[in-house]
Amino acid sequence: MKRILVTGGAGFIGSHLCEKLLSLGNEVICLDNYFTGSKMNIIHLLGNRYFEVIRHDITMPVYIETDEIYNLACPASPVHYQYNGIKTIKTSVMGAINTLGLAKRTKSKILQASTSEIYGDPQIHPQNEEYWGNVNVLGPRACYDEGKRCAETLFMNYHQQNKVKIKIARIFNTYGPRMSLNDGRVVSNFIVQALKGEDITIFGDGTHTRSFQFIDDLVDGLVKLMDTKDDFTGPVNLGNPQEFEINELAEMIIKLTGTKSKIIYKPLPQDDPKQRQPDISLAREKLDWEPAVGPEEGLLKTIEYFRGILLHANPDDAAKR
Ligand SMILES: NC(=O)c1ccc[n+]([C@@H]2O[C@H](COP(=O)([O-])OP(=O)(O)OC[C@H]3O[C@@H](n4cnc5c(N)ncnc54)[C@H](O)[C@@H]3O)[C@@H](O)[C@H]2O)c1
Repeated sequence: MKRILVTGGAGFIGSHLCEKLLSLGNEVICLDNYFTGSKMNIIHLLGNRYFEVIRHDITMPVYIETDEIYNLACPASPVHYQYNGIKTIKTSVMGAINTLGLAKRTKSKILQASTSEIYGDPQIHPQNEEYWGNVNVLGPRACYDEGKRCAETLFMNYHQQNKVKIKIARIFNTYGPRMSLNDGRVVSNFIVQALKGEDITIFGDGTHTRSFQFIDDLVDGLVKLMDTKDDFTGPVNLGNPQEFEINELAEMIIKLTGTKSKIIYKPLPQDDPKQRQPDISLAREKLDWEPAVGPEEGLLKTIEYFRGILLHANPDDAAKR
């Protein structure tokens, strides 16, 4: 049995990861400051004696004993990470320093949840791990993108200077149950608008593309990456290469929910990447991993989740999730 720390464990991805690691027979410590996470995401795990929760802000050092660390703490959607850009950078950079310091002291293996956003508005397509990216350092997304880029640099420096065993995952758009209801991400936005019978808002003309992976595929990839040989550090892309136009996604959600909602168009926000698609050759080779869940199956599970939230929770509770 390993003792595993998951920072950001009460968030969307973190809560699924905690669940998976427990199911594999580990002891899991979930650390979170509940900025965007919620106790509701982990409430079903609280009865498990191998699960522990710490309310803590990762910008401050943490002293516990661990075998492995998954560093996920960081708001992930633009509305949340732009709410306090300075805090977002601190979370990425100081969070990396604090978790890497802990990994160094406890000789733990540590995995960083990096992001496809480090590629910015990419000039090559699809993106492989060799690509250096195209980020506007002064733009509204920079607090997130540059914080995550600096975190990757810190991970590599701790590995090279202090022999810390690191893994870097570059995560592409992920969706599924427990995404936040009100964070402006495209899949949750469209589903919630469709279920409420409201207009479905597309920013831009809807011809820009995205690829979406279902949460179970990502969690599987993260665990496989952690289990690779010590000399493999990544970075490695984890995403679903199947690409959709945003218009197609909206139409699929309209069909699967059976809504009468109409699509409306609004201007594209500044620095929004036009295209994003992972090249996952490296993950296939090193992790023997590729996404297994198709869009219809994943979207149906996500729609069921949001239907439950909208039906059973009172609107105030739902908005706080
Ligand atoms: N969801 C995606 O599509 C996606 C894509 C690329 C990368 N990622 C990365 O994966 C990680 C998890 O993303 P998510 O989608 O689950 O987002 P999320 O917002 O649901 O989860 C982030 C969690 O971190 C916690 N947190 C934030 N700041 C903290 C701090 N200072 N101290 C302690 N806890 C803090 C939040 O409360 C939340 O529980 C993030 O690092 C994100 O950058 C996510």
